Amino acid sequence: MIHNFSLSIVILAACLGLKAKAQQTNQIQQMAPGVTRVTLGETDKFSPYNILQEKPKLAAMSQLPAPGVTVDPKAIRIELTPRGAVVHIPLDDKEELYGFGLQMNSFRQRGLRRRPIVNDNPLNDLGYTHAPTTFYLSNKGYGIFINTSRYTTFYTGTHKQVKGNAAVNTAGGNGKAQSVEDLYKNTGSQSGEVIVDIPGAKGGDVFIFNGPTLKNALQRYNLFAGGGALPAMWGLGIQYRMKADSKQQDVYNMANYFRDNHIPCDVFGLEPQWQTAAYSCSYVWSPEHFPAPQELIDKMQAQGIHLNLWEHAYTSPKSPIYASLASSAGDYKVWNGLVPDFAGPTAPQIFGDYHKKTFVDHGIASFKMDECDNSNIAMGDQTWAFPEMSQFPSGIDGEQMHQQFGTLYFQTMYNIYKKANKRSYFNIRSLNGFASSYPVSLYSDTYVHKEYIRMISNAGFSGLLWSPEVRESASITELCRRTQTAILSSQTVFNSWYLKSPPWLQYDRAKNNRGELLPDAKEAEAHIRTLLNFRMSFIPYLYSAFAKYNQEGVPPFRALVVDYPEDKNTYDVWDEYMIGDNVLAAPLADSASTRKVYLPKGNWYDYNTNKMYAGGQSYEIATGLDQIPIFIKEGTILPIAKPVEFISPATTFDMTCYVYGENVNPARLFEDDGITFNFENNNFSLLDLEWQNNKGKVVQKGQYKSRLYNIKAWVKI
Ligand code: GAL
Repeated sequence: MIHNFSLSIVILAACLGLKAKAQQTNQIQQMAPGVTRVTLGETDKFSPYNILQEKPKLAAMSQLPAPGVTVDPKAIRIELTPRGAVVHIPLDDKEELYGFGLQMNSFRQRGLRRRPIVNDNPLNDLGYTHAPTTFYLSNKGYGIFINTSRYTTFYTGTHKQVKGNAAVNTAGGNGKAQSVEDLYKNTGSQSGEVIVDIPGAKGGDVFIFNGPTLKNALQRYNLFAGGGALPAMWGLGIQYRMKADSKQQDVYNMANYFRDNHIPCDVFGLEPQWQTAAYSCSYVWSPEHFPAPQELIDKMQAQGIHLNLWEHAYTSPKSPIYASLASSAGDYKVWNGLVPDFAGPTAPQIFGDYHKKTFVDHGIASFKMDECDNSNIAMGDQTWAFPEMSQFPSGIDGEQMHQQFGTLYFQTMYNIYKKANKRSYFNIRSLNGFASSYPVSLYSDTYVHKEYIRMISNAGFSGLLWSPEVRESASITELCRRTQTAILSSQTVFNSWYLKSPPWLQYDRAKNNRGELLPDAKEAEAHIRTLLNFRMSFIPYLYSAFAKYNQEGVPPFRALVVDYPEDKNTYDVWDEYMIGDNVLAAPLADSASTRKVYLPKGNWYDYNTNKMYAGGQSYEIATGLDQIPIFIKEGTILPIAKPVEFISPATTFDMTCYVYGENVNPARLFEDDGITFNFENNNFSLLDLEWQNNKGKVVQKGQYKSRLYNIKAWVKI
């Protein structure tokens, strides 16, 4: 993508200071306010930047504090070798690094070998991930994006290049080893560089996102990618995914169960067997399971439930689009299905047109885009994906296609909705860089609760949204803990694709499917209802945090270090995160009944007890099964809604504003129709909530005229 950025200037800067050959001189280009690009050689055609379809939000970027120069572009060194490109980026001794996409095993990213390669198995913390973003942030206040879709290795302060000078001290080694174990320990201090190895590349291409703070650098990254996602408001409600072999009547029964028992729900997901063929996919309704799809869609709509369809992109010979896709697909198949070449012009058109006419025009509200993550390259016997040597008509190779498959597939589907001016919220198993504006949450089969919490913090460093979905559990406590995590995340999903009944009626998988419900199922249901009702109460606050993501690039879910970079205690806090500006979440993992919570400076209130805690220290806090593990910053106005069971265009929220402590700051709610892109043409309003002289005040400005929120009460805590 080429931007008409009027201030663009191209400066040629001597890089190595060696021979003055053109190919040894880095080009330095100003791409947007605070964004500098350093290149040498040729950038691949299918780089993340070339794939990006959104326009940068330049006006918002220029509102950020002056960037300063946190990384000197001239200090970035690019080597072109017969093997590929190598990029060297300076690193101070004290810098902390974060990011590299949806990392599962680690949080602090310094001193490691990072291989952000698409896969669902992190394989000993090598860096494999559903979202292999070649982007990291430093607490010194900048971000580095390597613009490549190839498999890269980042050495984050682990090596030093000898470069003809054998005297260079690379540290490591241990001449004074006392034990066999000591022999191999890396005892040396870390090098002053991040080194990126990009085999096969004919050039190095680096984007520097300047701060001055880590948060500002992250904002610039998100704004450069088009601004953060603003999902359809209903997408922030509860999603329930039906067992894969469900039939039409089962869906009706489940919808009635939710409504009769007043359990909130906005989305039902249908899993593989809604189709005549699923591995690979036909994209044709199964007459056996769903004989009357339009009736299904309409009945669900009448009950306030949006339908989401599971699929993946590997197209079965049984699909009506198989023949027309054949010349726009890769030269290897997956499960005997074609791999559409979404990097070329024709496959997205054929695939997109068919989905529009067959599903979107008929009221299908969103899709779950599965199996786009090359899984599982960590196992020798998992060979289903298309191989790396695959070739595609567009010219993209199998390696780059794997890294970008989720993003390209997503764009194909998202564009259908955008053209129809319909917003949505999707599910996907893989994304790459510059995905900030996409209303879609990543999910996984890995299911380790602690990792699922860590992934909420990590996703926020890379413009990604992550859904820690709930399936079965070992106990009711674990089920409630997992549900608490899910309601404090970007998308609340119960994925019952192999459970006959909702997990709160029986959390054990085998018993659930045998129809043996818990003796105290109603009690468990009540716990879950309470938690889900909180999620519905929280939507106005959450939606407004998403609006800030969209307009200012501040992620709605982010690690504490983003907001408190000067507090060293936050450097390693991966199991707590901010939601919006004023809420700190500290979910409990597994079956814990208490946990240690670190609170940064200032005073904080336990949402459940209103007890105040002084920040700058940790506390052991107990949280009940139907309580909410969050802390509210002193000076906050927290708008909480009376829960609704689902969100429709007619929904208005009755709000209570809770005012915490002294020195109260104004709060802001974002108001629009929640379902179209009209907000992009200023059709929205902002509701400013203020606390003055012990009284609440509401000031509304903007063009959106209907009311979404009724401020009914103010409560001083
Ligand atoms: C998996 C996916 C699950 C479920 C399943 C159906 O790949 O992660 O959530 O959809 O496929 O076969």
